[in-house]
Amino acid sequence: MSLGSPRVHFRCTDSTNLHARELAAGGAPHGTLVTASEQSAGRGRQGRTWAAPAGRALLSSLVLRDPPRLLPLAAGVAVAELAGPQARVKWPNDVLVERRKVAGILVEGRPQERWAVLGIGLNVALRDEDFPPELRDTAGTLALAPEAVEATLTRLLELLAHWIRAEPEAVLDAVRNRDALLHHRVRWAGGAGHAAGIDGDGRLLVATDAGQVALEAGEVHLIR
Ligand code: BTN
Repeated sequence: MSLGSPRVHFRCTDSTNLHARELAAGGAPHGTLVTASEQSAGRGRQGRTWAAPAGRALLSSLVLRDPPRLLPLAAGVAVAELAGPQARVKWPNDVLVERRKVAGILVEGRPQERWAVLGIGLNVALRDEDFPPELRDTAGTLALAPEAVEATLTRLLELLAHWIRAEPEAVLDAVRNRDALLHHRVRWAGGAGHAAGIDGDGRLLVATDAGQVALEAGEVHLIR
């Protein structure tokens, strides 16, 4: 079934993910899409917020039934493909262009009810001055016109339809080909080491002084 229908669009809402979660819990079909021009309480990973100026970012949340195991990685690959050949995926799914994060992905769901909400915030038309000073070195934009947001959504839905159905090996190959962390020094709450690739379960491998560890989820920081 196609992604993006039915669709609810808000000029402003608190969070498209919150809205999509309510729709999913209420039985909304696979592919239901919630978009907004602006969010007042955008949700990021690790309990953070996600902010973007009105009309300049793609703010979308999709309801997915029976999501694939590697959904977070598949979504990262789809967004990276949209962002261009130079785009990289910083495990698990931050999308970077020239080492700056242009998109964030937040997957929330109820595995026991076999649904997930895939939330994507993509900085389509932000200008440098739209970023707060503390993000100017790390946040990026596709630098397109605000009018490009809707066409960007159409392309993103096509790419997601492909990557969500793709074989796990194809997703893993694609993410490995765009791995922003490979061989870089990284740290996380539990330690530090050198990123050593992504295993067959989509976990980040890190070589540490105590041997190799496989990280399942969470936040990894690139040590520049
Ligand atoms: C991250 O922290 O990197 C993930 C950010 C995800 C933001 C998007 S914007 C659309 C959707 N609605 C939300 O409230 N969050 C996601």
